[in-house]
Amino acid sequence: MSVTNPTPNVEGTRLIRILFVCLGNICRSPSAEGVFRHYVSEQGACDRYDIDSAGLIAHHEGELPDGRMRAHAARRGYELVSRSRPITYEDFFHYDYIIGMDSANRERLLDLAPTAETAQKVSLLTDWADDAPKDHIPDPYYGGAEGFEHVLDLIELCVPQLYRKTIS
Ligand code: 4NP
Repeated sequence: MSVTNPTPNVEGTRLIRILFVCLGNICRSPSAEGVFRHYVSEQGACDRYDIDSAGLIAHHEGELPDGRMRAHAARRGYELVSRSRPITYEDFFHYDYIIGMDSANRERLLDLAPTAETAQKVSLLTDWADDAPKDHIPDPYYGGAEGFEHVLDLIELCVPQLYRKTIS
């Protein structure tokens, strides 16, 4: 059973629904959400997308992104203002693309996917880039400043390709 709501935008085009997912939803997935929102806005395509992020654990529910992540993102012009929330059963039906950050995220998402059809929506952000130097976005939480910069470098590489491949 699908409960997907194919809400159209003002022009009657069906929204493209993307959910970014990481472990805590305070570092990588809110950054991917923020960078993707920024890029989509620059392209004048805000009305084509429904974008959100979520975590696989609820430990940080209600929190803003990690202060270190927000500071690094702000230096590149991204304001990260989402609040952490855990992924829900309904998310698997609502979103078209459920995009994890590393292989542990992907395995957990595949375990949680309620149906074979919803499992097909799961990918990794680096899967969308033809030239990503890494096959995942490493968790920066327990590391130093360079880890947060690396997260943003990889996300900025992947986002334009994710946009091109989903907008068409
Ligand atoms: P994220 O980073 O998955 O990129 O948001 C982490 C945030 C919190 C924790 C681990 C990773 N934690 O263990 O609380």
